[in-house]
Amino acid sequence: MADATSQGGHTTLFSPYKMGKFNLSHRVVLAPMTRCRALNGVPQPALAEYYAQRSTAGSFLISEGTIISDTGAGFPHVPGIYNDEQVEAWKKVVDAVHAKGAIIFCQLWHVGRSSHEVYQPAGGAPISSTNNPVSRRWRILLPDGSYGFYPKPRALETQEISQVVEQYRQAALNAIRAGFDGIEIHGAHGYLIDQFLKDGINDRTDEYGGSLENRCKFLIQIVQAVVGAIGADRVGVRMSPAIDHMDAVDSNPLILGLAVIERLNKLQQNWGTKLTYLHVTQPRYAAYGQAEAGKPGSDEEEAVFMRTLRKTYHGTFLASGGFTRELGMQAVASGDADLVSYGRLFISNPDLVLRFKLNAPLTKYNRKTFYTQDPVVGYTDYPFLNKSNGKEEPLSRL
Ligand SMILES: Cc1cc2nc3c(=O)[nH]c(=O)nc-3n(C[C@H](O)[C@H](O)[C@H](O)COP(=O)(O)O)c2cc1C
Repeated sequence: MADATSQGGHTTLFSPYKMGKFNLSHRVVLAPMTRCRALNGVPQPALAEYYAQRSTAGSFLISEGTIISDTGAGFPHVPGIYNDEQVEAWKKVVDAVHAKGAIIFCQLWHVGRSSHEVYQPAGGAPISSTNNPVSRRWRILLPDGSYGFYPKPRALETQEISQVVEQYRQAALNAIRAGFDGIEIHGAHGYLIDQFLKDGINDRTDEYGGSLENRCKFLIQIVQAVVGAIGADRVGVRMSPAIDHMDAVDSNPLILGLAVIERLNKLQQNWGTKLTYLHVTQPRYAAYGQAEAGKPGSDEEEAVFMRTLRKTYHGTFLASGGFTRELGMQAVASGDADLVSYGRLFISNPDLVLRFKLNAPLTKYNRKTFYTQDPVVGYTDYPFLNKSNGKEEPLSRL
C-alpha cells in the first residue's frame, strides 16, 4: 500500500531530499519567523525550547530574522548575531536543535527603512536605498506594543554600502561560530536588500540604482562576501519579487526575479558549487498581476510565475507562502518545489511534520501572540499530538 512517503511512486512531502550536503528526511521546512522573544536582542532559553519542539531527525529549520548590526532591527526584542553575547546565547539554541538531529540555518536580516528611531542607536534615522519613508499605509510595532508611522530614512552613501556588506559577512561568520549549519540571506519582504532590488523604492542615481544590474548589485555583493567567508554550500538566499509588503513593488516582478536568478546561476557556475537553496515567497495574489489590469493575479498566473523562476534556477527551490498540506503535496509531486516552508501552521503545531504525516487535525494559531514577549504563552505552549492515541495533549509546564 502506498504510504505518505511515496504515493503511487510520486514524490511527497515525506520523501527524503538531499539539499547539497544535508540529508533531509522530509520536505516540510520551518519558515523563518520573527517572534520577539529574544530580550534585548539576546536569545533566551525559551528560544531553545521553541526550536527544539519543532525539530526532528533530518528536519530543516530556518531561524527567525536575526539582525546583522545595531542599525538592523525594526521589531521589539528580535535577536542579533553581531556581538559575542548573542553568539554565545545562540549556541544553546543551536545545540538543542542538533540534539534532536535537525539542521538549522540562521536568517540574516537588516530591516533598512522598516525601522524607527526607537530601534536605532542614538535615535538616528534608519538606513535605506532611499530617503523616502514607507508610506502611511503601513505601521510599525513599537516596543511598548503601540503602532507608529515609519520615519524618514537616510539613503546610504555609495561608499558606506561596502560596510554593510561587511556586516553581513561578519554576521555569517558569527552564525557559523554559534554552530548554525548555514545562513539564509533575507532578501525579501520589503527589508533592506529588497529596498535595493525594487524599482518602486530604489531611486538611486549611483551604481546601486537604475538598471536591473545596478539594483541587484547590493544583494550579489552580499552573496559573494558571505560565500567567500563560509562557502556556497552553507548559504541560502530568500527573495519575494512579487510581494508588495511595505511598498516593495516592482514594475516587473518576473523580470526582477529572473535577473536575480541569472546572476546566482552565473556565480554558481563560476564557483563550481551551488548555493544550498533559493527560497521564494509565493505572491498568493499579493501583488503579482495587479500592475496591468488592477485586478489580483489568478491562480494560474501565480503558478506560471513560480514555475518560471523554479525552472530557471539551477539548484534547490524552496517555496513558501499559504501552503496547506495538500498544496505542499502538489508542489513537490509536480516538481514546482523541492521543499516547502511553513510559517503560521508551524507556530501552532510544533509537531507539524507528524500531523501532516498522519493527516491529523491542526491547531489554529493565535495572531495576537505572534509578536508578544511571553516566553511560554503563544510560543511554547501549543499542544503536541499524543502519539499513542493521536489526540492533542497540552505540554507540561516545567
Ligand atoms: C509571525 C511571523 C513572522 C515572520 N517573520 C519572518 C522573518 O523573520 N523572516 C522572513 O523571511 N519571513 C518571515 N515571515 C514570513 C514567513 O517566513 C512565511 O513566508 C509566511 O508566514 C507565509 O507562510 P505561511 O502561509 O506558511 O505562514 C513571518 C511570518 C509570520 C507569520
